[in-house]
Amino acid sequence: MAASNDTETPIVEPNPSGDSPDTGIRALQDRIRQQELLAELGVTALQGASLDQLLTETARLTAKGLRVEFCKILEHIPSSNRLLVRAGVGWDAGVIGVASVGADLESPAGFALRTGKPVISNHLENEERFRTSDLLKQHGIRRAMNVILQGDGKPFGVLEVDSRSHDEFLEFDLAFLQGAANILGMAIERERHERRLTGALEKHQFLLKEMNHRVKNSLSMVASMLNLQARDHANPELTGHLSEAANRIAAIGKFYDRLSYGADVERMDIGQYVSAICKDLNENVGQCEIVTDLVDGIFVETDRAIAIALIVNELITNAAKYAYSNEVGGKIFVKVGRDNPDAFTISVRDEGAGLARDFDLHKAKGLGMRIVAAFAKQLNAISAVRSHEIGAEFVITIPLNAAPLL
Ligand SMILES: Nc1ncnc2c1ncn2[C@@H]1O[C@H](COP(=O)(O)OP(=O)(O)OP(=O)(O)O)[C@@H](O)[C@H]1O
Ligand SMILES: [Mg+2]
Repeated sequence: MAASNDTETPIVEPNPSGDSPDTGIRALQDRIRQQELLAELGVTALQGASLDQLLTETARLTAKGLRVEFCKILEHIPSSNRLLVRAGVGWDAGVIGVASVGADLESPAGFALRTGKPVISNHLENEERFRTSDLLKQHGIRRAMNVILQGDGKPFGVLEVDSRSHDEFLEFDLAFLQGAANILGMAIERERHERRLTGALEKHQFLLKEMNHRVKNSLSMVASMLNLQARDHANPELTGHLSEAANRIAAIGKFYDRLSYGADVERMDIGQYVSAICKDLNENVGQCEIVTDLVDGIFVETDRAIAIALIVNELITNAAKYAYSNEVGGKIFVKVGRDNPDAFTISVRDEGAGLARDFDLHKAKGLGMRIVAAFAKQLNAISAVRSHEIGAEFVITIPLNAAPLL
């Protein structure tokens, strides 16, 4: 952006007295103070304050730096060719956000905006170059100084200081005012970029959500078709297989629908995700109840999260199917924990019938265990069975990064 107008020759009204201004010690102290205030403003701008806060803070610090009672930030409204008082200090109630001045060349602010040249008017009562706005007259303003405020590509408006006192604005006051305007201009530009980026991210997240929702709807349709087909067969084994396939497909659809995106669209909190999918699975486990114990703050890539969801689905389905009787049901405990700096664990435990003595996780022939093994491999995870006096527990240890655990 072209923020600096330091090289511009200021439009200064003629000094009728011809006296040279006092540039003594007080002036030097003022200069140091002004530098400090500019630094303070720079810090505020860097801290990422909101635009309104930034405008008000600039007005406050600028008025302080120039020892004046009034300061305002005028925003250019092209549709009406006016400069709206967007923020400021010292003004009567009802001015900020409401009052405006013309943006034409006859107005000092308009002149600064159009030409990029700073304007100093130390004697408004004798001003012949520009008209004095009603706003200044109503507030008894005697002197004013205007500089352009650059924005994102085009000027945002004008920064103006005004005073009732008989003192005079000097060249170095102008340098301070332009310095404040330049810092604010950069902050405005950054804020607008940020706003645009946030807007783009929100749109991106919305589209991803919509896409996953459609994936879910498509998969539910496939599942419904398989269920219809299952009903057509007299063979109970085939019917069972078809409806299990339908359940798995419907579950995958739900896992997609549950993907949510924060600021980081590629990663998600696995504890929160598992919590969401357990809520969905509660509908499929009959009399059983899924009890969760999940830590937040473990982030994994989205595709790995889906693989984890598929494993959890198989383990919960098995617990509901084999651990308890259909009529009575029981609790299925799902835990996501982090007891290792490089990995986290997901465990699914029940207090039911337990596994057969010769059960070998890695040799089990069922599709469920093969799905668990295949996705565990994809995740570079280690799967294990823990024995308990009652029930069964499956523990999957998953590396935080895709690299295999040592
Ligand atoms: N929580 C559990 N409690 C008791 N037995 C279990 C449990 N989980 C799994 N099993 C046993 O392990 C076997 C293998 O499970 P797996 O999920 O691979 O196959 P399945 O459930 O029989 O079939 P599929 O998953 O293809 O529908 C099961 O048949 C069951 O005997
Ligand atoms: Mg199974």
